[in-house]
Amino acid sequence: MQALISAHSGLRWIALLLLLLAIFNAFTATNYEKKHRLVNLFTMITFHTQLLLGLVLYFTSEKVQFVEGWMKETIYRFYGMEHLSGMLLAIVAITIGHSKSKKGADDAAKFKAIKVWYVLALILVLAFIPWPFRTELGAGWF
Ligand code: HEM
Repeated sequence: MQALISAHSGLRWIALLLLLLAIFNAFTATNYEKKHRLVNLFTMITFHTQLLLGLVLYFTSEKVQFVEGWMKETIYRFYGMEHLSGMLLAIVAITIGHSKSKKGADDAAKFKAIKVWYVLALILVLAFIPWPFRTELGAGWF
């Protein structure tokens, strides 16, 4: 199970880098090229992979326990509810953004979808990653 946690933890950096790159492209590029479409697509794929890994962890992790008073325990509340719902919303936002970026009538509309939905996702992801400085969550940098 440690291997799965390490995979999920390490993949966060690739997911974050791709998300930042997609947003950077949306704010700086004017012509919607194939490379932009691929970055947007790989961002979504990486986040969907995190969702799958995360769901397996959700049903196996010792940090997810619905014991008496779990909502009052920071670590159980975070992994059992906050991390799950925050990340689900972020992944929905990315999926909507990706779909709208494909359907956009012109290049500006395609980039606009990324600006709106991927930025919303970035805010959620940053807020709901168990950063190591939140020591009570017991997670690492990798
Ligand atoms: C709905 C989707 C997700 C679910 C259900 C989920 C579930 C979980 C669970 C149960 C853990 C605790 C693992 C353990 O230590 O036993 C965990 C840890 C973690 N998750 Fe997620 N996750 C999801 C999405 C994401 C996403 C999108 C990211 C980042 C892009 C992410 C980043 C992390 C990190 C960094 C940890 C800490 C791993 C460590 O202990 O070092 N998760 N996740």
